[in-house]
Amino acid sequence: MGWLDNDVALVTGANSGIGLAVTRRFLAEGAAGVGVLVRNAQGADAMRAEFGGRVAITVGDVRSEDANAEAVEATVRAFGKLDTLVGNAGVWDHFATLRKLDRGVVSAAFREVFDVNVLGYLLAAHAAAGALRETRGSMIFTLSNSSFYAGGGGPVYVASKHACVGLIRQLAYELAPEIRVNGVAPGGTVTPLKGPESLGKQESRLSEIPGFSDAVANSVPLGFIAQPEDHTGHYVLLASRTNSPATTAAILQSDGGWEVRGRPGRR
Ligand SMILES: NC(=O)c1ccc[n+]([C@@H]2O[C@H](COP(=O)([O-])OP(=O)(O)OC[C@H]3O[C@@H](n4cnc5c(N)ncnc54)[C@H](O)[C@@H]3O)[C@@H](O)[C@H]2O)c1
Repeated sequence: MGWLDNDVALVTGANSGIGLAVTRRFLAEGAAGVGVLVRNAQGADAMRAEFGGRVAITVGDVRSEDANAEAVEATVRAFGKLDTLVGNAGVWDHFATLRKLDRGVVSAAFREVFDVNVLGYLLAAHAAAGALRETRGSMIFTLSNSSFYAGGGGPVYVASKHACVGLIRQLAYELAPEIRVNGVAPGGTVTPLKGPESLGKQESRLSEIPGFSDAVANSVPLGFIAQPEDHTGHYVLLASRTNSPATTAAILQSDGGWEVRGRPGRR
């Protein structure tokens, strides 16, 4: 018996990092199938090779209304219903502080990061709401320590992840009582999270930044950088109707203790 027996989920940005770990965990918890929205054919091939018929794959960009609608349709077509939407695809600004943002790129960087990180979640929610209302399901969005605190990126990324807090609250308010809407807010995690094309960072990966893991580990009381798998239990809990039926508009922080920043002294 798993916590998500016979449930059906849709995960965006599912072919790497946290989205891939959530997909694996949902299937391990008994999910009947997972729809996945992945950005390119390469990602689709990897998902097909690992999961076969247990995933329904849609290739597309989360900034596209049609791609989100197609992903919901493909999921329901393959598995008969939708219980949980996991909005997860995102880009990071690779610490593009105000000083580093050259004149002429600010608007483009803002639009690109907000389009992927905020509009992408809104479009997924819009596309999935009908199917989720039928099952009295839920939405879960991947937020960040940057949804609450400064210093985990530049102003563009931090503002985009703060905006997602508002999105969760408004959707939880509007969609109740049929649909619960919650978030998981990871802190620094070893993933290949990329940057925006508008900043020339589309091939830069967070996990390849020299010293990043140590810097994250030294910034939080728990003293380590997370692996994607470390967050997945929170998604399972929030998706589970039996274990969190009274929880909506909640954001579970999975960040090693950013709220009480810094390593404690060893006594
Ligand atoms: N890694 C961290 O330290 C960290 C910390 C806090 C929050 N997050 C958040 O976690 C989420 C997942 O990121 P990750 O760290 O697993 O990195 P990742 O790069 O492994 O996952 C992001 C996924 O989003 C997809 N994606 C990006 N733009 C897309 C687009 N326009 N259309 C379709 N798919 C697109 C990518 O292809 C990728 O599969 C993001 O929302 C990120 O902001 C990550």
